[in-house]
Amino acid sequence: MSFIVAIDGPSGTGKGTITELLAKKFNFQYLDTGATYRCVTLKLIKEKVSLDDTEKIKEVLNEIKIEFKDNKVFLDKEDVTKKIREKEVTNLVSQVSHIKEVRVAMVELQRRMSEGKEVILDGRDIGTNVFPNAEVKIYLDASSEERAKRRYKQNKEKGIDIPFEEVKKNIEFRDQNDKNATVGPLRQAEDAVYIDTTNLSIKQVEKKATKVILKKKKLIEKIENGYKMTKDTKWKRFQKSFVKGFLGGLYHIVFRPKMVGLENLPKDEGFILCAKHINYLDAAGLILCNKFKIRFIAKADLFRFGILSYLGHLFDIIPVKRDKSDLNSIKMCLKALKNKEILGIFPEGTRKGLEKNMKVKNGAVFLAEKAKVKIVPVGIKGSFKPFTKVIFNYGKPINIEDFKNGDPDWLDKASMKVMDDIVMLTKNVD
Ligand code: DC
Repeated sequence: MSFIVAIDGPSGTGKGTITELLAKKFNFQYLDTGATYRCVTLKLIKEKVSLDDTEKIKEVLNEIKIEFKDNKVFLDKEDVTKKIREKEVTNLVSQVSHIKEVRVAMVELQRRMSEGKEVILDGRDIGTNVFPNAEVKIYLDASSEERAKRRYKQNKEKGIDIPFEEVKKNIEFRDQNDKNATVGPLRQAEDAVYIDTTNLSIKQVEKKATKVILKKKKLIEKIENGYKMTKDTKWKRFQKSFVKGFLGGLYHIVFRPKMVGLENLPKDEGFILCAKHINYLDAAGLILCNKFKIRFIAKADLFRFGILSYLGHLFDIIPVKRDKSDLNSIKMCLKALKNKEILGIFPEGTRKGLEKNMKVKNGAVFLAEKAKVKIVPVGIKGSFKPFTKVIFNYGKPINIEDFKNGDPDWLDKASMKVMDDIVMLTKNVD
């Protein structure tokens, strides 16, 4: 299973130490991304490559071999763990790390090294650029004085002798360079947890970071295992009709929904409703303002939020894990269709997917074909501004069997037809 922890921040914030401790504690692989830039720098120094010579740099990047093994760093099979921390490399690495070609190659290498694993990476742009979807993002910070003190002490312990003033100047210079970089600048990701380590011990920082990681792990576990269809009890039915009556009433007052073309809906058989997706209120309208029951398919993340989780369970929404072929949810959908239930799917995949040029998803056609049911396209017209009208326009059912003509792209073509009908139904209604 993949689980990415991104630890970003300027030099000397204790990233390396904390990352190593967390790696041991959680049994994550540790990837020191700064070391990858240091390896490139060492190789460029060794081969006397000028930093302006882009062609030669590209050659070096093509042949370079960087490996991490047993807490050691290997450059072209040579152990360079100590060498990459020396003054010559340290003074040049920031400049090297801002060369576009170097950046692109290292980001690719870091992604490749982490693929499908549980990895903790420390660097500058992990949460913003290398893994913008990392499960955990932590941004460590500290005053430059404190960071210089730490780096000076660390150097001494490693037998590297650089005067304190020089260490501090170097740190401040690198801060400026890293923050103002045109490629991969040092920035806190919006969703990163900020920890100021200036007055904290390593133990204290580790404790705070541990809490963040544990919280996320628990949340993911809950999403992975926690969604269980609740039983259809009397109490659930009572809550459902109460919530539907209350919220449905409110919806009627605020949006004045109008249903057009209901006569098109197949009778006494399961089918899939494919609707335009403008915002979450369109799904709410379809669920709350129809007499029949629709079970929507929604991304599993939604069940992280208390009230949405409650409503999701109440209305038997089927969760689907994004970016994975989620067999469990496919099974749930097929079972529901077999039981003559009505499924709701947004083929745009996300809100206003068409406007965002997203490819139409073919999951609905896939399910319709497997379950041998029809798809009913639904156009939705309205701004969803309070006290304006919203029209739900149900079109003629589409028989998926008509599209199975041996063409390998038939799934995509049928999905496009569904989307075309939805767009037409949205336009042609008043
Ligand atoms: O963390 P460090 O001091 O070993 O990093 C060495 C240099 O590499 C530093 O100047 C910042 C740069 N770096 C980067 O630009 N992006 C990363 N992800 C990691 C390090």
